[in-house]
Amino acid sequence: MSADRGSIALEQARVLAHTHFEGDQHVLRLQAPGCAARAEPGSFVHVRCAEDLPMRRPMSIMRAQADAGWIELLYKVVGAGSRALSRLQTGDGVSVLGPIGRGFEPHAARPRVLALGGGVGIPPMVFLAERLLEAGEPPPTSTAAPAAVLTAAPAAALGAAPSRWKPLVLMGSELPFPFRVRPSTILVPGIPDEAIGCMPLLDEWGVPSRLASLAGLPGCFEGYVTELARAWLAQLPPVALAEVEMFACGPTPMLAACARVAREFALPCQVSLEEFMACAVGGCAGCAVAVRTAGGTAMKRVCVDGPIFEAQSVFG
Ligand SMILES: Cc1cc2nc3c(=O)[nH]c(=O)nc-3n(C[C@H](O)[C@H](O)[C@H](O)COP(=O)(O)OP(=O)(O)OC[C@H]3O[C@@H](n4cnc5c(N)ncnc54)[C@H](O)[C@@H]3O)c2cc1C
Ligand code: FES
Repeated sequence: MSADRGSIALEQARVLAHTHFEGDQHVLRLQAPGCAARAEPGSFVHVRCAEDLPMRRPMSIMRAQADAGWIELLYKVVGAGSRALSRLQTGDGVSVLGPIGRGFEPHAARPRVLALGGGVGIPPMVFLAERLLEAGEPPPTSTAAPAAVLTAAPAAALGAAPSRWKPLVLMGSELPFPFRVRPSTILVPGIPDEAIGCMPLLDEWGVPSRLASLAGLPGCFEGYVTELARAWLAQLPPVALAEVEMFACGPTPMLAACARVAREFALPCQVSLEEFMACAVGGCAGCAVAVRTAGGTAMKRVCVDGPIFEAQSVFG
């Protein structure tokens, strides 16, 4: 493993497991201890998918276990790079550069974390929920250092200490979800009754999750994930609403819709942006987007200034 740029490392990872789902969606578990040690929800890796492909491809980290030294990615095949990735077998080597990017920064004053993931935007939301559980109690508001919340040493076992963060994960997909949907064991007031399907992994952790789709998938809310979010938010009393912060990752139209919902309910919202990337370490400016800052509009690099941005600074 060679140090590359600050905390970004170039690492020869090994495939530990590769699980395949409907819709050409895949979950790849990689032995990548350097990356696993520093990954945060929202950060990503730049993967060399094949020797003959000149550019690496960015993929969000869905889970990372520092002790065991692995990271997990969830991806969908859309072109040559992801197709090459899908052919990897257990034991194969793959070069990863990471972890890259600023992660989500939940604020202690808003422990009701509303996480929205669309399609292959689901991975950072799973990671966020897991890290909030591990972090346990939010720090006192006055001394809150949001980034430190997520980089705190993981608890020995999930659920060892009851967490006061209250994440609710809502996911949308028009393809069958890349996990076996089952009825949730956790009641979520305000969610329409028909939306009872959940992600089993989150349910087992005690994190409520619900699913939305326009594809008529069983157990799912029929509509966009943002409509499901709106239904839940609309029935919260003001005191609970004041504790909500939104986090979103998914296609750009979904992120724009999340920004609108956040405006409607006067909520802070952090979004994870996607852009085509060449270097992914801040050197080429190929991923720059216009972002509103206190000093006016500025061009920011999605790879290292993001991929997480305040929603209204991009979609306001
Ligand atoms: C920070 C970040 C995190 C990402 N995380 C994930 C993830 O967790 N799982 C996942 O499946 N994908 C993720 N992506 C998108 C993924 O990088 C692209 O789908 C991938 O690079 C496509 O490569 P390819 O060679 O398979 O396809 P290409 O042949 O390069 O492209 C095929 C199609 O995908 C579109 N595409 C390519 N790159 C992007 C991109 N960056 N954003 C939007 N559309 C793109 C192209 O317009 C084209 O239609 C992420 C992208 C970014 C920037
Ligand atoms: S991809 Fe080169 S600066 Fe972001």
